[in-house]
Amino acid sequence: MSKQYPGHVLFLNHFKRTSMNTVISAVFGFVLCLLVQNLFYTVPTMVTPTCPTVDKADVDRITSGRSYTDPDFSDCQDNKHPGYIPRYPRRRCASNNTYTDFGGTMTAKQTARVNTCVLNFESDKKRELDLAIHDPSIRWSSHRYLNKSSFVIEAGGHNGLDVQELNSRYQPGTYVVLEPVKKFFHVLTKKFVSSPNVVVYNFGIDVSDGVFYMNDENNDAASIFDKEQNKNNTESRIVNATIFFEKMSVRKNDVDLITLNCEGCEYAVLDLLLSTDYIRHFRNIQFQPHNTQGICYSVQRYCWYQELLRKTHRLTFQYKFIWESWSRI
Ligand SMILES: *[C@@H]1O[C@H](CO)[C@@H](O)[C@H](O)[C@H]1NC(C)=O
Ligand SMILES: *[C@@H]1O[C@H](CO)[C@@H](O)[C@H](O)[C@H]1NC(C)=O
Ligand SMILES: *[C@@H]1O[C@H](CO)[C@@H](O)[C@H](O)[C@H]1NC(C)=O
Ligand SMILES: *[C@@H]1O[C@H](CO)[C@@H](O)[C@H](O)[C@H]1NC(C)=O
Repeated sequence: MSKQYPGHVLFLNHFKRTSMNTVISAVFGFVLCLLVQNLFYTVPTMVTPTCPTVDKADVDRITSGRSYTDPDFSDCQDNKHPGYIPRYPRRRCASNNTYTDFGGTMTAKQTARVNTCVLNFESDKKRELDLAIHDPSIRWSSHRYLNKSSFVIEAGGHNGLDVQELNSRYQPGTYVVLEPVKKFFHVLTKKFVSSPNVVVYNFGIDVSDGVFYMNDENNDAASIFDKEQNKNNTESRIVNATIFFEKMSVRKNDVDLITLNCEGCEYAVLDLLLSTDYIRHFRNIQFQPHNTQGICYSVQRYCWYQELLRKTHRLTFQYKFIWESWSRI
């Protein structure tokens, strides 16, 4: 026994009556669709932006004539190579800054060495500082491999002492100096106005893009970790280090020397280098580690770097916790 609902019957009858119409309109619709589709196919469906990539020639061009113009980091953002992605996640410490935790990558032997390194920090630093004071020029004199085709990056130009010393000794082809603080940026641009191979940019590098504020009056050196959000102070710009390295095409043009004296940015840069293949593209890495307040576990991280750097580089000189330089094996 079957029971048919009135609505059901109505629907069936309606279907029979209109089935021919439906077939006709379906065919018509299909043809129309094809036509419309063809119409739209004449319009490019995928826009491929022409994205200028920076190569060595571009860097050279920037140095001759277009000095001191910050590169545009916003162009073709979507089409840009994302750069190497760090293998390890970043964690936050009590100061709310971030760091890469290399602890889990260490062998038992390495962990033991790291622990000793951390334990001896105070006494080692005191001793090494006394020694380093008598050898101030080693951070300039130990880079004799630099020549007129070399590419140098310096983060933290300050008043230009290192630029002056390295540039006058070796005249590297391209010497990019980063200085986020306006006051020092102006000192640098004035000082190197007739050195066409020296390019000074008015920004710093760190983990991510950002700004920080500082009082121009009473600061010798500025740390991005003194995030005094007083808008009366001068604003300084920070660029994500990955984006900067991509813009400088370091994957294509190896950097002969990166020298870091940037009040803490050395940790962000070394974290990035050591957790990616960027490390392979830096022939020489020189840095001054800072224990600026707010930096996560500065001593522990420095001691991790000692273990990690020696996998790809060997020490050129070292005043432990003061200044050191590593050269690619
Ligand atoms: C920590 O930093 C994150 C990202 O910068 C921010 O969203 C959060 O509000 C900060 N927390 C504190 C307690 O400052
Ligand atoms: C500069 O040094 C590099 C290696 O550091 C070397 O390959 C190149 O031939 C040198 N160029 C000149 C012009 O001396
Ligand atoms: C830095 O830039 C890279 C490349 O665009 C991006 O993958 C990464 O998430 C950025 N880092 C931060 C902390 O914003
Ligand atoms: C900023 O400067 C103005 C004018 O000099 C002053 O009134 C104000 O208190 C300052 N703000 C801060 C946060 O210092």
